Amino acid sequence: MTKYIVEGGRPLFGEVHISGAKNAAVAIIPAALMVSGPCRIENIPQISDVKLLLGILQDLGANVRYVNPHTVEIDSTKLRNGRVPYESARRCRASYYMLGALLGRFGLADVALPGGCDFGGTRPIDQHLKGFRALGAQVDTQGGFVMAEAVGGRLKGTSIFLDKVSVGATINIMLAASMAEGLTVIENVAKEPHIVDVANFLNSMGANIMGAGTDVIKVRGVPQLRGGTYSIIPDQIEAGTYMAAVAACGGEVKICNIIPKHMDCISAKMCEMGVDIQEVDDSLLVSRIGPLIRTNIKALPYPGFPTDMQPQMAAALCLAQGTSIITDSVWSSRFRYTDEFKRMGAQIQVDGNLAIIEGVDRLTGAQLEACDLRAGAAMLIAALAARGISEITNVQYIERGYEDVIGKIRAIGGRIRAVEIPEEEPVISSAG
Ligand code: EPZ
Repeated sequence: MTKYIVEGGRPLFGEVHISGAKNAAVAIIPAALMVSGPCRIENIPQISDVKLLLGILQDLGANVRYVNPHTVEIDSTKLRNGRVPYESARRCRASYYMLGALLGRFGLADVALPGGCDFGGTRPIDQHLKGFRALGAQVDTQGGFVMAEAVGGRLKGTSIFLDKVSVGATINIMLAASMAEGLTVIENVAKEPHIVDVANFLNSMGANIMGAGTDVIKVRGVPQLRGGTYSIIPDQIEAGTYMAAVAACGGEVKICNIIPKHMDCISAKMCEMGVDIQEVDDSLLVSRIGPLIRTNIKALPYPGFPTDMQPQMAAALCLAQGTSIITDSVWSSRFRYTDEFKRMGAQIQVDGNLAIIEGVDRLTGAQLEACDLRAGAAMLIAALAARGISEITNVQYIERGYEDVIGKIRAIGGRIRAVEIPEEEPVISSAG
């Protein structure tokens, strides 16, 4: 087990290089199993979710080779269809993309139901299964597994209208439809940058997908996907996380390797808070010299403000002048992290999917426990801004989605170190 020890209370100065997008990479790796030939994927982030998914592909018989730390070559020509076991699927929610990929290529899929970040509520996949059934698959869920089989051996193109805007369902259905027979039209889809990235990856491998990034995606199925090379987009949320750190701590940091368009919704909100942002080619120069100003945030599907940034913004708003309100319209209970902030002196009230944050003059270091990926990142920000020492445990959550977080924080002047601690003894209830 590892914990981070952070000495906070000083502004940040320096440069940080943004890695490839986690939520693109965790979909593109499963998509690569559909390709009969070598896929060269560049700008792949070095995070534990990527390593886990590459391991699943290897277990299914794909050849996986790192050309360099950020470029992997996957050849799924000889991949054998098989069950994706619970011990793999439970550790990474994106393992559910194996369903659409295996069903699309082989007409058959058998995948354990996913795990991933628990926001206190359920994380259903009913829209994914609705799409597979519409494409002509028989889908059963039993014993913690989803088993799907295309009637007649191959999926057939159709029209699907999603009941809910869902990133996962949009991507999973797009994967399955990319090798179905005929045209599939998917409406009311999600439009996040990583959805466009997955569509662009598939098209570079010979798929025929149009409209990704708009409300309607059209997929003309092809019988086979061949090999090719693709570079993953930079991570909008990682970049936003470091922007929020500057907002909370003050200072000036150059955030390198971003796509400015993807940052618009985050940059706009930061400017409202008194953060200065200058766009320089594929970088943002982010600085905060004066006081942090309160604002309201409503987390919505793209191009709205991303839910995956609301915990990080909450950390900064704890130190803003005035009262801020954050509403998360995507996840109904994604505010568990606020309990940890309160232990640092934050003044926050949570009511369902709404948090009211009354800014305070300072936070003080405390012992913190990460409860999910972005909550862990938010605790890092709060610890960097707080006076004194903080210790953060359960950092494996953070390392699922942030490459070299220690090195990157040190590069901008943050004082942080990782310490190994003995595995915690499981607490055995004294009850009978
Ligand atoms: C993806 O999760 C991301 N994960 C999440 O990021 C992100 O918070 C979320 O999209 C929203 O942007 C990955 O990409 C691996 P959804 P996903 O399906 O696909 C409901 C992170 O921090 N819904 O868009 O699981 C659902 O309950 C992670 O990187 C259904 O009702 O999210 C939620 O309220 C955390 N039925 C809403 O839709 C379904 O079948 C959006 O969920 C699917 C979803």
